[in-house]
Amino acid sequence: MSEFVAIAIDGPSGAGKSTIAKRLAATLGFVYVDTGAMYRTVGLATLRRGIKSEDTAAVIAALSDIDVSIAYVDGAQRVFLNGEDVSDQIRTPEVSMAASTTSAIPEVRKFLFETQQKLARENNVIMDGRDIGTVVLPNAKVKIFLSASVEDRARRRYDELKEKGMDVSFEDVLEDMKQRDYNDSHRDVAPLKPADDAVPVDTTGNTLEESVALLESIVKERL
Ligand code: DC
Repeated sequence: MSEFVAIAIDGPSGAGKSTIAKRLAATLGFVYVDTGAMYRTVGLATLRRGIKSEDTAAVIAALSDIDVSIAYVDGAQRVFLNGEDVSDQIRTPEVSMAASTTSAIPEVRKFLFETQQKLARENNVIMDGRDIGTVVLPNAKVKIFLSASVEDRARRRYDELKEKGMDVSFEDVLEDMKQRDYNDSHRDVAPLKPADDAVPVDTTGNTLEESVALLESIVKERL
């Protein structure tokens, strides 16, 4: 049994997992682990090599010279691809889609699984993703499944991208979100689904503050 405590937050894109988990981690003094950033880094690596995400054999072959690591700078997680900090480059719509496709490949999941488990063996963690409560940390002390309507999630993602100065339309962001929801929930390995013992939380219509307060009370009650 690990002496460390793990909190798993799963759910679809744009439900607010990372923003809320980061805030909770700061309040509790836990290490925040954004596993989506790791999948995005693999997606970015394949795009940079000109590999099509659908070309499973080429993606698997590329893994042998991809190194994904994470480190904490001023308390914030940064993700590195072969030593280069790519934390900002992984936040584009192209990388989102490449991550969604390549994350369905079992070898890609296995590749990142070890790193994720090691972090939980060595730290108190709040880890967010799609399969944390079901596959990566099935013994997590608290599991939350965070969701919101697809329109609400697309609106938040659209606002974020606009804020970063990206030229995107709401319709495209909504379509991407629907496509990724479908991919993430229908893949054969570790599909997005709530763990049997996860607490379901729907953040539709909530402000960020309301969602943070709600999750904080759920977590504190269970720790
Ligand atoms: O959470 P995110 O949008 O940054 O995740 C990017 C992609 O990575 C998402 O489409 C699905 C995949 N992912 C996954 O398959 N398993 C995880 N634990 C986290 C993310």
